[in-house]
This record gives sequence, structure tokens and C-alpha cells, in this order.
Amino acid sequence: MNEIIEKIRSEFFEAIKNVKSAADLEPIRIKFLGRKGLVSTSFDRIAELPKEQRPLFGKALNELKRELENAYQNLQGDFKKQQAKQVQLDLTLPGRKPFAGRKHPLLKVADEIKQIFVSLGFTIEDGPEVETDFYNFEALNIPKTHPARDMQDTLYITEDILLRTHTSPVQIRVMQRQKPPIQMIAPGRVYRRDTPDASHSPFFHQVEGLVVDKGITFADLKGVIQAFAHRMFGPDIKVRFRPSFFPFTEPSAEYDFTCVFCQGQGCRVCKNTGWMEISGAGMVHPNVFKAAGVDPEKYTGYAFGMGIDRIAMIKYAIDDIRIFFENDVRFLNQF
Ligand code: PHE
Repeated sequence: MNEIIEKIRSEFFEAIKNVKSAADLEPIRIKFLGRKGLVSTSFDRIAELPKEQRPLFGKALNELKRELENAYQNLQGDFKKQQAKQVQLDLTLPGRKPFAGRKHPLLKVADEIKQIFVSLGFTIEDGPEVETDFYNFEALNIPKTHPARDMQDTLYITEDILLRTHTSPVQIRVMQRQKPPIQMIAPGRVYRRDTPDASHSPFFHQVEGLVVDKGITFADLKGVIQAFAHRMFGPDIKVRFRPSFFPFTEPSAEYDFTCVFCQGQGCRVCKNTGWMEISGAGMVHPNVFKAAGVDPEKYTGYAFGMGIDRIAMIKYAIDDIRIFFENDVRFLNQF
């Protein structure tokens, strides 16, 4: 009986010696380990044996079965690994596109705005988002009791330290460290205590503009804003200035661009006015010059603000400011 077992074993190991693939292995599995294979059918022969030999033979057959199964499984595992390696090395497969990040639409618009002003001779300046009351209000001619403080609901950190409500404090910082002529913009993030809705966000982005020199006039301001409007939105865009009030400029104005959605005809977006409000501007107030150490008898200057989010919304026809800050890749992927 042992001969039978030995014969099956040596035949099996002989057979698998030359096997080169999982496919070659399959007929061998069927022949030896299949339901009607040599091992299974040998169990049937137990009955032919004298009673006392049966348990031994059964045990030996079981051991043989386990041995062959192990050898088979090891070999099959090797083939699987090999196959996986081959797949990895298939140089004919098309390449996988690497995931590329891209610029946020607000950064793209800010870049464009910067580029336009740099080409007009402006420098780019920076200032802190955490500001003092002095730079954000006091030096801009907005004293503690001034009602204009209500215009800008402020997020305070301490009584004297706050999150800047506009980029205008950068005007003061630049005038303190640099003598005129000054021709600068300062893009950056600003904060206000606002409840978010389609047109309000507790933080948004502005570009401050400041030009200081001898003999600067309101006409220079209008010329620069007009040049910007043309470069940003095209040659058909008109600019209009409306009288307004800011404590840090005198005279002050708000300026509008022709509505880009209806070319000034009047539509839902511009509430039928034909104009889109952009921001404020004006001639630098003498008190601001004094606070920043610039002689108001010698120099004049203009300043303007600009909302980056607002310009991006116009440029890309976006009707809800909140979408800029939701980090939804379905939105961001479109730019
Ligand atoms: N700082 C003003 C604002 O936040 C805008 C502005 C800037 C107005 C410069 C006049 C001059 O709305």
C-alpha cells in the first residue's frame, strides 16, 4: 500500500517540476487532487484492505493529500506574484495622468490685477492681517468715537489689536517707511463681522492703491482706474465716479464699471442700472499724511480700494462669494 502512496507522490512531484504557468498547473491539480483524482480514488480502495491495515493507510493518504495540496498552493502563489509583477512592468500601458493642482480663482485674479498695476509702474506692498487700532483706524482719520467705525464691523483680538477690516492700513505703513514718490498696491485678506450670505463673507480680499507725489490730482486717479478697467474687462468698459465719504480721503468717491453682463443696457445683475459698483477712492486726507509723517503742504496723493472677490465674481460670472471658500474641487477644477 505504501507503494501506491509513494508512486502518487513521486509522479506528482515529477509532474510539477516542469510547470511554467498557472495554466500548466491546473491539469495536474485535476489529475491528483481533483474530486476524481488519484488521491480521492485511492481513498476508495481502503475497503479492499484487511481491516487492521485500513487506519494506517487512511492516515498515510491524508498526509499525502495535505502534502500535495501545500506544494500545489505554494506553486500557485508564486505564479500569482509573478503575474502581478509582469502587470506592473507592462510598458505598453497608457500612462497615468498625474494629478496637478492649480491656482485658486482668487489667486488668478489677484495675479492679473497685480500684473496690470505693475505694468503701470506700481510696486507691490504687504502688511499684517492682525493690525493695531492705530493703523486700521486712528491713523486713517477714524478716531475712537467716529461713526465711520460702524461701517466696518470689526473682529477684535484685544481692545487695541484687531483683524484688519480693510487694506488701507498698509498705506500708513508704506508712507512711514518710504519717502514719496510712492506708487503702490497692497493686495491681501481683510475681515469683517458679517454673517455669510451670497455677497458677504467674514473675510474677503482687497487691493489697496496709493500714489503720493508732488502735484498728484484726482484726474490721475481717474486715469489709472480707467486704464485698469480697460485692461481687466476690455476697451468698452466705462468708469463713473460718484461722490461719497471716507474719513481718510477728501474728496471721496465710489466708482463703478459698466456692467459686463449687459454692456450697460441694464440687467438683473446690475439691478437695471447698467453699472457695477467696484469700490471707493479719493484724495488722501491731510490728517492721514500727518499721521504717517508726510508733509501735506508738499505732497498730494490718491488712494483707492478694490475687491478681489468682487472682480473675480464679475469676471467668472459667479453669484455667490461663499463658493470661493468651500474648497469644492468640482468648482476649483474649472479654472
Ligand atoms: N478702505 C475702503 C474700504 O474698505 C476703500 C477705500 C480705499 C476707499 C482707499 C478710499 C480709499 O471700503
